[in-house]
Amino acid sequence: MSDMSSAFGEAAFEQVNLNPLTPLNRYKFLTASVVPRPIALVSTIGPTGLVNVAPFSQFIILSATPPILGIVSGQYSDGIKDTHAHILRTQQFVINVVDEDLAQATQACAFPFRSDQSEAEIVGLDTLDCTTIDGRRLAASPMSFECRLQRTERFGETATLIAGEVVAVHARAGLVSGHRVDHRKLKPLGRIAGRSYCRTREVVEMPDGLDDPYRQYGRELRS
Ligand SMILES: Cc1cc2nc3c(=O)[nH]c(=O)nc-3n(C[C@H](O)[C@H](O)[C@H](O)COP(=O)(O)O)c2cc1C
Repeated sequence: MSDMSSAFGEAAFEQVNLNPLTPLNRYKFLTASVVPRPIALVSTIGPTGLVNVAPFSQFIILSATPPILGIVSGQYSDGIKDTHAHILRTQQFVINVVDEDLAQATQACAFPFRSDQSEAEIVGLDTLDCTTIDGRRLAASPMSFECRLQRTERFGETATLIAGEVVAVHARAGLVSGHRVDHRKLKPLGRIAGRSYCRTREVVEMPDGLDDPYRQYGRELRS
């Protein structure tokens, strides 16, 4: 830890050229490198009232005040994904946190089912009412965020950032105390790549006082 700067010289690296890769392999490279990623299991309502459920690991906190969460949706060869279409139509969606117990259901929900099919029904995920939006949240998820669409922003050829303001949060009893979330009870699942996932049981704690030598250089944080 003390001498990180001299541990690797230039000869220890190779440059990776993303240009010759196919779009799919470029996606695979990036998603295998930006790891581990949390997973949003997004539930939306289709035009006939069916509950659509799909996982998104391009998932990020965009703002804390107001609370805004973002997912990035790719596309099918014949158009946008069902989740994206439902959100554009209803202006609302639910982000359900994925825990270890939801691993298999999460993988199953990623299957490209037809638009008139409900992953909740096929995979067997029970849903509960939302309190501030016209949506359904997943009973098996330890924490759900009800979101209202804030805006969408297109990036590149196929990616759309979908930003939603969090208007209600549901947490399983005993999980949250004030602003603190019990990570051991949450048991979040992360995505590595393809069919590889990770648990976050092995936590690395930084010792107290590690930043003492830097205190004199500090600025005040504003979130
Ligand atoms: C763990 C996991 C994470 C995924 N993350 C994303 C993602 O961030 N963006 C995306 O477009 N697709 C992602 N996918 C693929 C979608 O979940 C998949 O295309 C899904 O069937 C879309 O469903 P829909 O058409 O009902 O919206 C992911 C799949 C898995 C298994």
